[in-house]
Amino acid sequence: MKIAITGKGGVGKTILASLLSRIFAESGYSVLAIDADPDSNLAATLGFPHPEKITPISEMPDLIEERTGVRPGQAATYFRLNPKVDDLPEKYCQEYNGIRLMVMGRIKKGGSGCYCPENALLQALVTHLLLARDEVVILDMEAGIEHLGRATAKAVDKLIVVVEPSRRSVETAYRIDKLAQDIGLQNIAVVGNKVRSQADREFLISSMPGVEFLGFIAYDQAIVEADLHNLPLVDASQQIITDVRNIFKALLSTAQVQ
Ligand SMILES: Nc1ncnc2c1ncn2[C@@H]1O[C@H](COP(=O)(O)OP(=O)(O)OP(=O)(O)O)[C@@H](O)[C@H]1O
Ligand SMILES: [Mg+2]
Repeated sequence: MKIAITGKGGVGKTILASLLSRIFAESGYSVLAIDADPDSNLAATLGFPHPEKITPISEMPDLIEERTGVRPGQAATYFRLNPKVDDLPEKYCQEYNGIRLMVMGRIKKGGSGCYCPENALLQALVTHLLLARDEVVILDMEAGIEHLGRATAKAVDKLIVVVEPSRRSVETAYRIDKLAQDIGLQNIAVVGNKVRSQADREFLISSMPGVEFLGFIAYDQAIVEADLHNLPLVDASQQIITDVRNIFKALLSTAQVQ
């Protein structure tokens, strides 16, 4: 199963990605988590030791040059758009607690947008991970899916849009839904996070009629505290683990239906 997680900044994408990774791994699945957010913090959230020592793929100029033919920052009229990537997961995955992790890193967007060798390598790598690998892949993305190409989008079994009970978050979800339709991605579902009351839940459901809700995650102050004290979030709150376990079950049952 290939799951991509998106939503407005700060809604809880990384927490959901890390808890789902943990629950899939504990249930015996082989899990590959991909941090595709330029402000990577999935490693820390998963409790990886020394997350600051993990070098993102986008910060490996030698590798980028070797595979695409062009060094980042170098002026070039041509670089390989389909570089070899199938050996990269084994070489550059980090592993901790039964979860394998790849950190993609930040692409400096120049005047030419994303038309650069580092982006070519990352795109090829993400597409490879989604298409050619048979483990559960969980992709923690930035707020948006613009950078998901059509080929990549097709490989995603479920795009989870995380929302919180706020109007802006719901608006972002609508924008993502529209973009997803544009690139042919249909399996979209929503997770409501930071839910404090039945009224919050009803706000989300009534703001997004016709949308599939995979589940809800309660607001828990313990998560905020863990974040403040730099503790791994995966162990911070029993309530949230229970909520994400229910989302995991919902994912499995929708996957079986398809
Ligand atoms: N259920 C929750 N209860 C309480 N606080 C939460 C909850 N979920 C997330 N938070 C708070 O929101 C912060 C952001 O969560 P997280 O990093 O998972 O969001 P994100 O969508 O990945 O953010 P970014 O867009 O910055 O990557 C957490 O550090 C935590 O303080
Ligand atoms: Mg995040």
